[in-house]
Amino acid sequence: MATPLITATQCFVPKPKEEEKQVEETYKRYRQLIVPTLPRQKGWMSEHLYMHQDYWFETTIVEGVMYLQEHFKPRPADVLLATAPKCGTTWLKGLIFSIINRTCYNASAKDHPLLTAGVHECMPFLEVHLFTDLPIGDTEILSSPRLLSTHVPYAMLPESARGPNGCRIVHMWRNPRDAFVSFWHFVTGWRRKAQLSELSLCEAFDLFSQGVSPYGPFWDQILGYWKASQEYPDKVLFLKYEDMKRDPKHLVKKLAEFLGQPVTVEEEERGVVDEILALCSFESMSKAEVAEKGNFHGGRPSYKDFFRKGEVGDSKNLLTDDMIRRLEEITKVKFNGTGLEI
Ligand code: A3P
Repeated sequence: MATPLITATQCFVPKPKEEEKQVEETYKRYRQLIVPTLPRQKGWMSEHLYMHQDYWFETTIVEGVMYLQEHFKPRPADVLLATAPKCGTTWLKGLIFSIINRTCYNASAKDHPLLTAGVHECMPFLEVHLFTDLPIGDTEILSSPRLLSTHVPYAMLPESARGPNGCRIVHMWRNPRDAFVSFWHFVTGWRRKAQLSELSLCEAFDLFSQGVSPYGPFWDQILGYWKASQEYPDKVLFLKYEDMKRDPKHLVKKLAEFLGQPVTVEEEERGVVDEILALCSFESMSKAEVAEKGNFHGGRPSYKDFFRKGEVGDSKNLLTDDMIRRLEEITKVKFNGTGLEI
């Protein structure tokens, strides 16, 4: 069996003590000099959303994004999962981790790191888990290929992450209706735990429609990755949640190929793809041992909060016909002439 390429416990290692002062100064600069000058709107998960380079970010996340942009050093061997929130990130994290590490961690093992350590520890969010709040994580010490995740739009990634020599980027998007509804449920649970007043469905819908949602405008984020995938198909894989639900086997094979580790005939005959899909299924991940332990990055959101229904089309149970029509109109206008369709 090969040596594990990355282990769950490697994912969060604080920066060395001697760099602490400098990091502290950097965050102080963001917090005191930059963030207060940014346009702001009502926050979904914190007090405010701040507009930084045409996108909206929650209060502390905006600092994580700035740190990512200024200090994260991408490597061509990195695998970056870049998604809009609530588009199936958790599922894809599991799939990428288990595909890449399938020779060191058997997907049918009861003690697979995805089940024991949890998916977010195996593939942490840069701006959320590693670069928000001190101490921050040291990504430099991680061995390649680093498996990292972000919700940051393509245009805002460090230059060396983008283009023909950038890292391998996997993007997944989802029908805006379902993504919005999933997000609203997630935020409602978050606000309840944080003892914040409720963000009503109507208010959230208006903000979302105007592009004012965390990491939004939702459509612009997707279009950025869509265009990059057209320009650099070897570097940016563009997936859709609904396609993944319809034919997961096909997409796992496509993903494995993109990641440079195609599934062999022998593996397919041994049922490796089926094992990976079973390991990463909604059922398996939502009931993983780690679900009872909580989450690697504190209690909010908890591991369990990333699993709700995992279905396509649930938005019809909550949104009115008018709301659905409105989202369809916006999508039509935004995607017009791009070749991208719902
Ligand atoms: P719903 O709220 O519609 O159920 P993200 O991981 O980007 O935060 O997205 C969360 C959405 O993906 C939620 O959608 C969640 O239930 C769904 N999800 C999480 N794990 C999944 C899995 N293994 N398979 C399918 N869907 C999953």
